Amino acid sequence: MPSHGLGLAPRLRYLAGRARRIDVGSVFARARESARDHGRWMPAVLVDMLWSAGFRQVGFQDYVDYDFAILNRAERETYMTHPVSNQLSQKYDHPDFRHIFQDKIEFDRVFSDFLRRDWMVVEPGNRDAVRAFVEGHGTVVTKEPVGQAGTGVHRYRASEVEDWDAFHRGLLERGELLIEEVIRQHADLAAVCPGTVNTTRVTAFFDGRQTHILAIAQKFGRGAVSDQMTFGGFYTMLDDDGKAVGPGYDSHGHVHERHPDSDFVIADFQLPMIEQVRTFVDEVARVVPQVQYVGWDIVVTPDGPVLVEGNWGAGVYENKPSVTGIRTGHKPRYRAAIGF
Ligand SMILES: Nc1ncnc2c1ncn2[C@@H]1O[C@H](COP(=O)(O)OP(=O)(O)O)[C@@H](O)[C@H]1O
Ligand SMILES: [Mg+2]
Repeated sequence: MPSHGLGLAPRLRYLAGRARRIDVGSVFARARESARDHGRWMPAVLVDMLWSAGFRQVGFQDYVDYDFAILNRAERETYMTHPVSNQLSQKYDHPDFRHIFQDKIEFDRVFSDFLRRDWMVVEPGNRDAVRAFVEGHGTVVTKEPVGQAGTGVHRYRASEVEDWDAFHRGLLERGELLIEEVIRQHADLAAVCPGTVNTTRVTAFFDGRQTHILAIAQKFGRGAVSDQMTFGGFYTMLDDDGKAVGPGYDSHGHVHERHPDSDFVIADFQLPMIEQVRTFVDEVARVVPQVQYVGWDIVVTPDGPVLVEGNWGAGVYENKPSVTGIRTGHKPRYRAAIGF
C-alpha cells in the first residue's frame, strides 16, 4: 500500500481479529465452491485464498464472490474488498458520530428531511397513536433500530391486526420500535419486483468539499419486505449512467439473468433519475460531514430519490466477472477519491 496508506496497526488488528474468528470448515467450503465453479484444484484454491486473506486483504467471501480464482494479480488489484472497506470506515467515519447511523431511530431524526415519508416511534402508552398510524397507511414497515444485520425489518397490514393492544405490546417486546410508511417506488423499479421496495446502494466518500460516488449497486427483492440477501435479494452493479452492467447475483451462488418472479431481464435495467440521485447523495453526504465514507440506501420514487438508511460500515458491492464478463472492480475509483 502506498506511503500515506491505511496504517499497519489497524490492518494487523483486523487480521488478528479475523484469525481468531476463522471458521476452518467454512473456509474449506468456500474453497470447494470456488474450485468447483471455476474448474480448479481445490487445495490450490484453498492456499491462494488463505494467502490472499493474509497478504492481500481479500476476505474469503470476497474471493468467492468476485471470482478471484479466475483473475490475475493485476485484475485482483482493482477490486474493493471487505477488509479494505472496513479500514476506510474506521479511518473516515468518526467514532463520535457513528451512532447516528447505527440507530435507525436516530438516523430518521437527523435525516428526516430526506425520508419523504411518515414515521413514528413505538413507546409504552402510545397504542392509539400506533393504531392511527397503521390504519392511516394501511401497510407499514417496522424496524428494530440497532444491529440486526439485515433481518430486523418487518411488514404489517392494518387489516390483519385483530387486537391493537397485543399488536402494540408485541412491537415493544420484540423491539420493533420504529414504524415507517411504505415507500412508493418508481414504476421502472416496480416493473422488476413490485412486492419489494428495491433500493439503490450508492457508496460515496465526502472529502469535506466534494462528494465522490465510488460505486452504485441496484438491489432487487423477491417480494418480501426487504431486498436484502437474507430475504432472497440479489444485486447488479450500475454504471455512472445508472445502467445495469449485467445480470444479477448474490453471495449464495445464485445468478439471475432475469428476475425469477417478473422475468425482467436484469441487464436491461436502467435506473431512472440518475442525475437527481447524484444531487441527492451529495446533499445527504453533507448532513454529518464527520462520517465521510457511507453506503447510502436510496429509493427512486415517482417524485425523486428518498433515503432509506446510511451504513457507516459501508460493505462492498462489486462486479462478478463470471456473470458480467467484466474483470475489473472499483478500487481505482476509491483510490482516486480518497487518496490511499
Ligand atoms: N419505509 C420502507 N418502505 C418500504 N420498504 C422499506 C422501507 N424501509 C426499508 N425497506 C426495505 O427493507 C430493506 C432494509 O431496510 P433498511 O432500513 O436498509 O435495513 P437493513 O439494511 O439494516 O436491513 C430496504 O432495502 C428496503 O427493501
Ligand atoms: Mg439497508
